Amino acid sequence: MTEGFRELRLDGVGRRFAGKDALADLDLTIRAGEFIALLGPSGCGKSTALNCLAGLLPLTSGSIWQDEKRIDVLPPEKRGFGMVFQSYALFPHMSVRRNIAFGLQMRRLPRAEVARRTAEAIRLVQLEEHVDKLPGQLSGGQQQRVAIARAVVLEPSLVLMDEPLSNLDAKLRLEMRTEIRRLHQSLGLTTVYVTHDQEEALSLADRLVVLRAGRVQQVGTPEELHARPVNWHVADFMGFRNLFEMTATQASRGDVVVEGEGMKLVGSAVSPIAEGSRAVAAVRPEDVRVVTGEGENHLDVDVEVVEYQGRELAVEVRTASGRALHVRTDQRLAPGDRVSLAIDPQRLLVYPLAPGEQAPAPLADVEAVAS
Ligand SMILES: Nc1ncnc2c1ncn2[C@@H]1O[C@H](COP(=O)(O)OP(=O)(O)OP(=O)(O)O)[C@@H](O)[C@H]1O
Ligand SMILES: [Mg+2]
Repeated sequence: MTEGFRELRLDGVGRRFAGKDALADLDLTIRAGEFIALLGPSGCGKSTALNCLAGLLPLTSGSIWQDEKRIDVLPPEKRGFGMVFQSYALFPHMSVRRNIAFGLQMRRLPRAEVARRTAEAIRLVQLEEHVDKLPGQLSGGQQQRVAIARAVVLEPSLVLMDEPLSNLDAKLRLEMRTEIRRLHQSLGLTTVYVTHDQEEALSLADRLVVLRAGRVQQVGTPEELHARPVNWHVADFMGFRNLFEMTATQASRGDVVVEGEGMKLVGSAVSPIAEGSRAVAAVRPEDVRVVTGEGENHLDVDVEVVEYQGRELAVEVRTASGRALHVRTDQRLAPGDRVSLAIDPQRLLVYPLAPGEQAPAPLADVEAVAS
């Protein structure tokens, strides 16, 4: 194991390309043993942040500290971090086994120890049958697993992973996810893990850092981010697929009434909101319930599209005013059904929208653009 540390501190870290911020003002303290996920949409600065940590990109502002030692001035090899990249950069002329053993051999460890640790890493990533192949003879997912094995075999003080599971099929992805978490725990690693997959981030990380356009939006535990995203961009990213631009017509304490798009709903204000101001209301598909009868926060809708997803259905419905809504339900709905929906006011989060701030695009528009 390389030299341990208590914490790693990023202090106002920024990186510009051609005068444009790819990453700005990143403050973050990573404690030893933590699993941190950097999460956000494509282009938000995740890889930039990771490469700054690794030493592959010089900072344009700020500093990085390992306890009392400033490390952003050190070259990558002096930082002693393990890295798994978005593109894996394996040695093309070396077999799988030699790729994985290489780092240990460079450290001049005894031959028997190199063989033992290499074999164990190969077993962990399930590549026993492929040890003598060259990277060019492997599938993308197999190459990705070689890259993971090559990094963790060194038991580095900090492991940096950039979308390491992006090329795997759904089943292997889940298995490797568990494996990465297990490796992290059993080897006592500190891990910074980049992904744009919120589910992956929630299931793996102790804390999540959500980035948008190079800036941190929120840092918190999976529970905190899941329950209470700080703004509608984070909510959007955390699975609140239904976002409506509305007007706050009544506000008292945490409760707020919002109206618009032919709906009148009661929700919970995440931050103070003035009566008469623009707002975004957000709710997850799984928090919209199919009900019978009348009541608060009820909507009558027509079922349009039904996707089978095992125990549940993903359903797209349309309100009388023409608004599309995503619903998840275990009720067997079919296209053409007319049903009532209810949203628990606690589950409808309402965010203020600053004057001039862009509102989320209505679903119908999003889909029109996508198709
Ligand atoms: N070498 C570079 N030169 C110029 N611009 C760059 C360079 N590297 C990154 N950028 C820009 O910086 C921004 C952040 O890029 P980055 O690679 O960090 O995004 P990301 O969050 O990792 O995205 P993805 O999920 O697609 O990998 C993007 O707008 C990108 O175009
Ligand atoms: Mg990236």
